[in-house]
Amino acid sequence: MAVVIDGKEAAASVIAAVTQASGSLEHETGLKPGLAVVIVGDDPASHAYVNSKSKMAKQCGFNSIQHSLPEDTTQETLEKLVAELNADPAINGILVQLPLPKHLNAEPVILSISPEKDVDGLHVVNAGKIATGDLETGLISCTPAGAMLLVNRIHGRDLSGLNAVVIGRSNLFGKPMGLLLLAANATVTMAHSKTKDLAGVCRNADILVAAVGRPQMVKADWVKPGATVIDVGINRVAAPDKGEGKSRLVGDVAYAEAAEVAGAITPVPGGVGPMTIAMLMANTVIAAYRTAG
Ligand code: GUN
Repeated sequence: MAVVIDGKEAAASVIAAVTQASGSLEHETGLKPGLAVVIVGDDPASHAYVNSKSKMAKQCGFNSIQHSLPEDTTQETLEKLVAELNADPAINGILVQLPLPKHLNAEPVILSISPEKDVDGLHVVNAGKIATGDLETGLISCTPAGAMLLVNRIHGRDLSGLNAVVIGRSNLFGKPMGLLLLAANATVTMAHSKTKDLAGVCRNADILVAAVGRPQMVKADWVKPGATVIDVGINRVAAPDKGEGKSRLVGDVAYAEAAEVAGAITPVPGGVGPMTIAMLMANTVIAAYRTAG
């Protein structure tokens, strides 16, 4: 049976380090890291994510601000708010929760965030730094940074000689994840919905990262024996065994069967999920330290 990679525990140690760094910064300079989280509309899942981000920011000793805008917010209003937050010296990190309501265009909003405050790491300046191998001076997007930390726990920092397969090519996760694995010397394959023989491609992976948004798509026979499996999926599915109308969270990997083949695997929940928030806090404290010089 595979080693279960405990994301909650890994996240707790990041949070402890962030809290300590935040306290030191305030003690030495009087500056408190400030995180502004912006959400538009009423999507309950997004509200739940945003609330836990704001709560964790407070727990880390940050100045935590949440802007909840109505569903009918205009592009102009949203970009104006971002401009105000860019200009606010008390704010070091700005996060606009995605997805935005359909009438809004996320790309110009993300581009309007100052790269120095883009704690999501989605601005082209930050994405471009990862792409060109600069992992030091920008901000790295939170979910891939957190997933890498879990990979590093199993394999160390140098992935030379290992084959990594990432399923999913989003800007939010798949692309930066592939680039981080590459920067760590893995041999990287980016797979996606148009990949031929996806199962066969995955079976070649020493490190298999699934971010497709399809519940339990990755089966045991997709997994190379002994591989490390990182499951980035968070899918809510019906759970009639728990009672009528009940649901549960599952990943993109068929966990029980994959765990019999893998060498190490992240559970859902309790794997990559907690790391995303922890790395957001880490990025915010990094951004705050940079303004302090
Ligand atoms: N929606 C789902 N994940 C994320 C994330 O990491 N950042 C933002 N801004 N929105 C998200």
